[in-house]
Amino acid sequence: MSDSDAATAVVRSEISRRDFLNDVAAGALGIAGLGAMVVTYRFLSPNALFEPSTTFRAGNPDLYPVNSVTFNQDQQVYIVRTQEGFYAVSAVCTHLGCITQWKPDANMIACPCHGSKFKSDGTKVEGPAPRSLPHFSITLTPDGELLVNKMETIKPEQALKV
Ligand code: FES
Repeated sequence: MSDSDAATAVVRSEISRRDFLNDVAAGALGIAGLGAMVVTYRFLSPNALFEPSTTFRAGNPDLYPVNSVTFNQDQQVYIVRTQEGFYAVSAVCTHLGCITQWKPDANMIACPCHGSKFKSDGTKVEGPAPRSLPHFSITLTPDGELLVNKMETIKPEQALKV
């Protein structure tokens, strides 16, 4: 091999090393730029907590037979229909917040955690719960559906007459 061939081989080797280093640098800049875009997007996007609505439609009153207790699992509310009208009773135990269960055989709402028991209208009967189950505001929408507002508690004797 002549001196000029050796020099060409060295030049080719240096060029390919330079190309390699350029590619590495471009890749690193690309990754850094992408990371900066992600951080900027997260910084500029609203830091809001989306909670479910506290008001919900419970359907047409005809869905509920007289003297029935219907558990709405999504909202954790009992829709109670009596001769007097409708009640929306919280299913959350007033002791430590367990979700109670309607026991039709015993005609009771029972808490599985520590044994509190409530009448179908939420009145406390026994157990460690300090209070009866609260009643939520229940009204009718203009198109005739039941509307429950869990942010507004009302006195237990305030039934919605339909
Ligand atoms: S949480 Fe219901 S009795 Fe304790």
